Amino acid sequence: MEIRIFEDAASLGLAAADIFAEQLKKNGASVLGLATGASPVPTYNRLIEMYKAGEISFKDVVTFNLDEYCDLPKDDKNSYYTFMHENLFNHVDIQESNVHILDGNAEDTEQEAAAFDAAIKAAGGIDIQLLGIGNNGHIGFNEPSNEFTTGTFKVKLTDSTLQANSRYFDENPMPHYALTMGVGSIMDAKKIVLIATGPAKAQAIFDTVKGEVTPLVPASILQKHPDAVLLLDKAAASLL
Ligand code: GLP
Repeated sequence: MEIRIFEDAASLGLAAADIFAEQLKKNGASVLGLATGASPVPTYNRLIEMYKAGEISFKDVVTFNLDEYCDLPKDDKNSYYTFMHENLFNHVDIQESNVHILDGNAEDTEQEAAAFDAAIKAAGGIDIQLLGIGNNGHIGFNEPSNEFTTGTFKVKLTDSTLQANSRYFDENPMPHYALTMGVGSIMDAKKIVLIATGPAKAQAIFDTVKGEVTPLVPASILQKHPDAVLLLDKAAASLL
């Protein structure tokens, strides 16, 4: 695991965007795994800037998002579908048919999950996966549990996650379930870039980097990935 520490979230965002831009310059038809939450916003802002400056294009890029809430209208302001369009897709030249976001309202969630895994495989796998991290060490919505998950599945969110994310929900109540790529799907990505900022992430980052590899801290599995880089601001890295 490579660890890089930055002064603040803004400089970290620039560095994360550079990693993605380099990949797009190398291969315009890259397959990107994308994340939501506050952490990736500076990265997306910088990628939009680079697109507008003509430095990168998303024309042939294929994306897969980590996760999506269940039982939340697709156009709700808190759906990850809305988040991705508002924070990235609406501002770049990506083709909507190349965007893959799980349908949290699918009638048959098992079938939805299997189709998502099959689509990742058919696209040739994920070249770079962007990750945030939950206060409890979750990645995607893989919550602490007794075993590492494999492929995409439906998960019941923990109290820690409900508490951390409920501040965003003022219209519809926060869903208690989500669909998420499994830890196995995440680990299959050729490269992983995890970003973490702020003091609330410090313990999870300590456990991820210095603790044992355990499904009780899902992100700790990244110790076993051959090409994982952690971009941290000083506050998130403060216990290392
Ligand atoms: C949600 C997402 C995760 C994300 C986490 C942290 O739970 N499912 O993918 O990493 O929030 O979000 P934030 O960056 O807002 O702290």
